[in-house]
Amino acid sequence: MLTGKHILLIVGGGIAAFKSLDLIRRLRERGATVTPVLTKAGEAFVTPLSVSALAGRKVYRDLFDLTDEAEMGHIQLSRVADLVVVAPATADLMAKMASGLANDLASTLLLATDTPVLIAPAMNVRMWQHPATQRNLVALQEDGVARVGPNDGDMACGEFGPGRMAEPLEIVAAIEAKLADGPLAGKRVLVTSGPTHEPIDPVRYIANRSSGAQGTAIARALSALGADVVFVTGPADVPPPEGVSIVKVQTAEEMLNAVTAALPVDAGVFAAAVADWRVAGASDRKLKKSKDGLPDLAFAENPDILKNVSNLRKNRPELVIGFAAETNDVVENATAKWKRKGCDWIVANDVSAASGVMGGSDNTVVVIDASGAETWPTMPKEQVARRLADRIAQALKN
Ligand code: CTP
Repeated sequence: MLTGKHILLIVGGGIAAFKSLDLIRRLRERGATVTPVLTKAGEAFVTPLSVSALAGRKVYRDLFDLTDEAEMGHIQLSRVADLVVVAPATADLMAKMASGLANDLASTLLLATDTPVLIAPAMNVRMWQHPATQRNLVALQEDGVARVGPNDGDMACGEFGPGRMAEPLEIVAAIEAKLADGPLAGKRVLVTSGPTHEPIDPVRYIANRSSGAQGTAIARALSALGADVVFVTGPADVPPPEGVSIVKVQTAEEMLNAVTAALPVDAGVFAAAVADWRVAGASDRKLKKSKDGLPDLAFAENPDILKNVSNLRKNRPELVIGFAAETNDVVENATAKWKRKGCDWIVANDVSAASGVMGGSDNTVVVIDASGAETWPTMPKEQVARRLADRIAQALKN
C-alpha cells in the first residue's frame, strides 16, 4: 500500500505516456497522492485534462506559470513528494537529467529536487542502445537514480527489443519497494548475481550453470525491506527484480568495475558465480578448425571481486557476504574460504549434482560467520533470501 505517500509524476513525451494514465489510477487506488507534471512533448500524447482528471489535482506544465509560482514555487514543487517518478523517461529527459539541464519545468524540478528519483525509460530500441543513452544511464545510476525497465518487446515504432516502458504494475512495485518503510530503509545494498561469460572468441564463451535465481531473490527480499539495492548481474536465466538499480555485465572484469562504481554501500552480497579464469588474449576473430590440431587456449586468473571488496581500506562495506558453492565437505571448505576471502559471512551451499541446487528452486545453506556455522533447513530460494535479508537487517541495526 502507498497510503499517505506523495508521488510527483513527470510524464514525458513518448507513446508510452498513455500507460502513465493507468499508472496514476493504480497509484491512487493504493492510497498515494499523485501530483502530475506534463512536459510539452508529453502533451502531444496525453491531454492535460485527462492527466489532472485521473490525478484529481492540477497538472503542472510550465516553468513560468505565474499562478503556480504564486501558489507553489517550482523549488517547493520539487520537494513536496516522497518520490519523483519519471514515466515515460524519454531519451531526451534522461539526457537532460544526466547533464543537469534545467530549461523547462520537468528538468528544473529534477535538478532542484532533494527526494529520490525513479525513472521508467521508454524509447526506440536504437535510441536506448545508443552509446549516448547508455552513457547517460551510467551517469544517472551513479547519481543514485533508480530505474525500472525498459522491457523487451514489440515497439509502437515496429521494431523489437529493449525500450518498452515497464508496465504500470511493475512501476507500482518499484515505487512500493522504493518507499518501503522496512528495517533497511535508508540502507544501500549491493548484490552480485548470475554467472559470468568469459569470451574465447566472438561466438564462444566459458560459462557456468548459475541461473541467477538466488541472487535475484535476495535483491528482491532486500528491496522489500526498504533497502536501496544495486543489482550487478551477469547473463542470468531469470528476469531481474523490479524496483532496483540494475547493472548488466558479461565478464568478471566488467563485474568488478560495476561493483567498484557502486561503492560505497552499507552491505554487499556476492551471490554471483564468477568465473575464476578467463581466456588470456581472447581472439577477436572466430577460431577456425585447423589441421594443426586443437586450439591452444591459455588461461588468466580473473580478479576475485569478493576478496577485493573484503580487503578494501577505503569504502569497505560494513557487512560483506560471500557465497561458497561446494560439492563436498561443505562446512570445512566454506570455513576455509571465509577466512581466505576476508568477508564477514559466507553463505555456503551444496551444489553437487545430487543436491539439484544449480538451476533448481530449493537451497540448503550453512551460514558461516565469526560465531560458527549455522545450518538452515532446505527451503525455497525465496525463503532463503528472506531469511538472509532479515539477518542482514538485524546486523546493520546493531
Ligand atoms: N567470487 C568473486 N570473484 C571471483 C570468484 C568468486 O567475487 N573471481 C565470489 C563469489 O561471488 C562467491 C565467492 O567468491 O561469493 C566464492 O566463490 P567460489 O567460486 O565458490 O570460490 P572460489 O574463490 O572460486 O574458490 P574455489 O575455486 O576453491 O571453490
